[in-house]
Amino acid sequence: MGALDMLPPGDGPGHELSVFEQIALGLQHQGWVVVANALPSGLAADLFAQVRTDSECRFALAGVGRSSDHVLNRFIRRDRIRWIEGTGETEQQWLAWCGRLQTFLNRQLFLGLFSFESHFAHYQPGDFYKKHVDAFRPDGSERGARRVVSLVTYLNPGWQLADGGELVVYDVDGDAALQKVMPAYGTVVVFLSTEVPHEVLPSTRDRYSIAGWFRVNGSVADRPDPPR
Ligand code: OGA
Ligand code: MN
Repeated sequence: MGALDMLPPGDGPGHELSVFEQIALGLQHQGWVVVANALPSGLAADLFAQVRTDSECRFALAGVGRSSDHVLNRFIRRDRIRWIEGTGETEQQWLAWCGRLQTFLNRQLFLGLFSFESHFAHYQPGDFYKKHVDAFRPDGSERGARRVVSLVTYLNPGWQLADGGELVVYDVDGDAALQKVMPAYGTVVVFLSTEVPHEVLPSTRDRYSIAGWFRVNGSVADRPDPPR
C-alpha cells in the first residue's frame, strides 16, 4: 500500500472527500483501489454492533447467479448473507454514505450509476468464495440492472495477518494475483465489477464484511428496473 491509502481513521466532510477522491482516482487509473480506514469511524462502529447483535438465523446461505439462474453452490462460496434493506438508523446511514459516493463517482467519472444494493456477509472459519467476477461484460441482450462498480468493506476489529481471510485481487485475465487485502476494520475496496476477478481465502476467525454494487439502469419500456 502506498502512503495515499493510509489515512488515519476519521470522520467529517474532509475525510469523506479525500476517501471519495482516492476511490475515483483508483477506479480511473487501475480499475480497483484499496483504502484503509475509509469508513467513517462512527458508522463502522454502528455497523459492527449491528452485524454482531443480528440473530444468526437472519443470515441465509449465499447463492451464485441472478434471478432464475440463482443456485447454491458450496464449492464456490460458503458465506451467509443478509441483504441491507435500509431499516433502522444504521442501515440508513450506510446507504446515505454509499449514495454520496455514487453521486461523487457519477460526477467525476460519468459512470451513470443509478442504484445500489448491498448485503452483510458472515464467513465462518474455513468459509471461502472462489475466484469470480461480480458481473459479466454486457453482450447487448441485458434487460435488468447491471452491476458496474463493486464495493466491499470489513467489520473485523483486531484482525491479524495470521487470521487469513484475505481478499485476493487478480489481473483482468484472472492469472496473476495482484494484491492480498487483509479484511481489516474500516478498509474499503472498490473495483469495476466486470474487470476484476477476486477471491476470498478461508480464515481462522469469523469474518464480517459488507458487499455492495452500484448498478446502471437497465429499464426497458415493459420492464421497470429495479423491479418493485
Ligand atoms: C462478494 C465478494 C468479497 C469479500 O460478495 O462478491 O467478493 O471480501 N466479497 O467479502
Ligand atoms: Mn465478489
